[in-house]
Amino acid sequence: MRTRICEMFGIEVPIFAFSHCRDVVVEVSRAGGFGVLGGGVEPEQLEIELAWIDAHAGGRPYGIDFLMPGRSAPVEDALKGEPRDLLPPAHRAFLEKVMAASGVPPLPGDEAARFQREALGRLKIRPDQHRELLDVTFRHPVKLVVSALGKPPPDLVERAHALGIKVGALVGSPEHARRQRDAGVDLVIAQGAEAGGHTGHISTMVLTPQVVDAVAPLPVLAAGGIGNGRQMAAALALGAEGVWCGSIWLATAQSELDPAIKRKIVAASSSDARITKAWSGKNNRVLASRWTEAWTKPDAPEVLQMPMQGLMTKEVMHRAGRARPEDFLSHPAGQVIGQIRSETSVRQTVMDMLTEFADAVERLDGLVK
Ligand SMILES: Cc1cc2nc3c(=O)[nH]c(=O)nc-3n(C[C@H](O)[C@H](O)[C@H](O)COP(=O)(O)O)c2cc1C
Repeated sequence: MRTRICEMFGIEVPIFAFSHCRDVVVEVSRAGGFGVLGGGVEPEQLEIELAWIDAHAGGRPYGIDFLMPGRSAPVEDALKGEPRDLLPPAHRAFLEKVMAASGVPPLPGDEAARFQREALGRLKIRPDQHRELLDVTFRHPVKLVVSALGKPPPDLVERAHALGIKVGALVGSPEHARRQRDAGVDLVIAQGAEAGGHTGHISTMVLTPQVVDAVAPLPVLAAGGIGNGRQMAAALALGAEGVWCGSIWLATAQSELDPAIKRKIVAASSSDARITKAWSGKNNRVLASRWTEAWTKPDAPEVLQMPMQGLMTKEVMHRAGRARPEDFLSHPAGQVIGQIRSETSVRQTVMDMLTEFADAVERLDGLVK
């Protein structure tokens, strides 16, 4: 295939894969597409991940994606002194009520406080932390750096461009897209509301052509609800230069997701992937669970700001994992999970997409007299 995005990165097919799993990233790049690693880990861990990708990608291009929220609750004070429970009493009480209803007991002593301290310490969302991660990133042959939430800081754009690295950003509206273009990005990813993870409210079908028109001639990738060849053909018909997929890789053999969550994804329908603020504090489409559903009830307290809401979710998942009540197992996931019927491989998924894409294009071609 040949689109401007294929030319920009020297790739054979304009399929981008977002994943936190390095094996998925490598497999997609090796299949002729472009893998992008979710990079929100410790700098030392990032170094290990990128070195592994370099050793296994066979010289194929890949990218990295960082979560850079414009706004989040300050966490520095929470990391000082003795660990203490950081949840407001109403939120602690609600969490314990939901867990108790499934027979999960409270954590003993200050274990919850220690868990929170550790989880907060691992978060990488402040600008100074990004710089550390970028220092690691720029020591590797990364070809694209993507900002997940909000505008990439000017020093990121400058440093990347000085090294010949492209910068991208996810957007959920044409206004966001214009702001990103003005911040100097080289491509935008128009992510529709069908998508897994943090998402806006406009569907991919409506968003993609609006973003394409808003930032032309900047290339646009379509994301959200794309997991097969017909959806890929539709995205290109809408004016996108390629597709950016996340959820379709979740249940592949190369995904490191908990096998119990993979099973839940395979069994789920599209309507099980719901938008909620309960997961992280921002709108996020996730696999519905007893935790996310509890927040739709009238006794639920106000959702906390990022990252405090996510801290609660992490504790719930941690405790659920110990006791294994499958009701609580959840994960960010988009509506395409309703198309996933069995565990497959990344390579097979890419091949199936391309075969179906070719069929779809041929069928459309046959419609024109
Ligand atoms: C499990 C999961 C985690 C995600 N985390 C991020 C993230 O950290 N940064 C980001 O830019 N996008 C993230 N996304 C969104 C993806 O980049 C992508 O835009 C989205 O998955 C596309 O829609 P789809 O899920 O329908 O394929 C995530 C998506 C999923 C499914």
